[in-house]
Amino acid sequence: MKDRVQFATRIGAIAATVGSAVGLGNIWRFPYEAGQNGGAAFIAIYLLCVVVMGVPVIVAEFVIGRRSHKNVCGALRDLSPKVNMKWLAALCITSAILIISFYSVVCGWIVEYLVQALMGNLSSAHAQDYNTVFVTFISNPYRTVMWTVLFLVANFMVMRRGLKRGVELAANLMMPFLFLLLIVFCVFSLLQPGASKGLEFLFQPDFSAITPRVAVGAMGQAFFSLSLGLSCLLTYASYFKDTDSLVRNASLVAILDTLVAVLAGIMIFPIVFSYDMQPAAGPELIFQVLPAIFQQMPGGYIFAVLFFVLLFMAAITSTISMSEILIAYFSEEFKMTRNGASMLSTGIAIVLGTLCALSFNVISDFKIFGKTLFDLFDYVSSNILLPLGGIFFSIFVGWMLDRKLVLDELSNNGKIRVRTARLIIFSLRYVAPTAIIVVFLYGLGLFGWLN
Ligand code: TRP
Repeated sequence: MKDRVQFATRIGAIAATVGSAVGLGNIWRFPYEAGQNGGAAFIAIYLLCVVVMGVPVIVAEFVIGRRSHKNVCGALRDLSPKVNMKWLAALCITSAILIISFYSVVCGWIVEYLVQALMGNLSSAHAQDYNTVFVTFISNPYRTVMWTVLFLVANFMVMRRGLKRGVELAANLMMPFLFLLLIVFCVFSLLQPGASKGLEFLFQPDFSAITPRVAVGAMGQAFFSLSLGLSCLLTYASYFKDTDSLVRNASLVAILDTLVAVLAGIMIFPIVFSYDMQPAAGPELIFQVLPAIFQQMPGGYIFAVLFFVLLFMAAITSTISMSEILIAYFSEEFKMTRNGASMLSTGIAIVLGTLCALSFNVISDFKIFGKTLFDLFDYVSSNILLPLGGIFFSIFVGWMLDRKLVLDELSNNGKIRVRTARLIIFSLRYVAPTAIIVVFLYGLGLFGWLN
């Protein structure tokens, strides 16, 4: 496997991995969850989840990927010659397809809003109209499908250029810009009159708000935000150099991802409170509350444009990482060219993404288990497939792989000293699987009595 591509530089490898982790989860979910559920107390629990369970599972995926230098299917086959692990690869490929399909619908909305912001249309509505603007837009099958498809085509243009000139270059260009924009926004937001109310909402510790439900929510959020359980990080690690330190890379990714989540809160809530709006999460925050604020703000045009640029960069570096799972798989297991594999995965995403976009309008009555396709894909992947993937990856590395192999991989065959190696293996054996099983059962609603 000597001639397989690798990331050109360590910085590039980290930029791409952080790009995968930093996405809509950081910007529209984390701040609100933290604000609603005990502020600093929630953040403390979140950090605990990241350290105790997040970093070990990132390392587990890194070990499998970097050891084998293969796509998820080939990697599991190489490392587990006796026990057939094809089903785990199939689970990862399936969840990658489901996630990219519904995620790119939201990415399509972001592009629509970016274009509207650029044309100045976003600032013409009255504050109370933003709800109508958004509902009218997502009810329009043509526009939503068009932007989903165009987004996936843009994603394709990056993917087909290859790992170094596509994935790595895009991350190297966008991630520094994303951090810069985020910091500019934070400074601006902190300068607003009454900014401290927003900071209080985000950081005021309230330990009484921490219920089991909130703690489990923090774990689930850490999982999604760190891109775990889908073999995204495994696939990227298969392009890492043998001299990279896996534990150091994993810690850096966890730190930067958490930093972005907290900065996103500092960017959003001071503005929200200073304009006397109600804090919200998800689409409502991004597509209704914030546009309504930009419209009243001096210089709102430019802030609106830059804000949707920031979201676009956060989103596309995440979809790139999901596509890479599929492209590595198709090109290595079926001997397809990079271009062919990119076309195939884009084609699949376009078909399913279109159905998800249409589930807000034309086929909104088509429901499975009471959920539209968009909601179903989101639910099944986030609440079922990701935790399952996480449990199996930690068990695989903690119990099935030879302990010496794992220690060798963490220490680059004894060349570097990693003091936490044993702790990480301990977590992979006991802590992480137990914690994830709890999240999993909870996500399925089996712990209803906790509420
Ligand atoms: N982590 C990204 C976010 O916060 C989304 C993401 C990218 C993801 N790749 C993933 C989530 C793999 C789960 C699994 O938005």
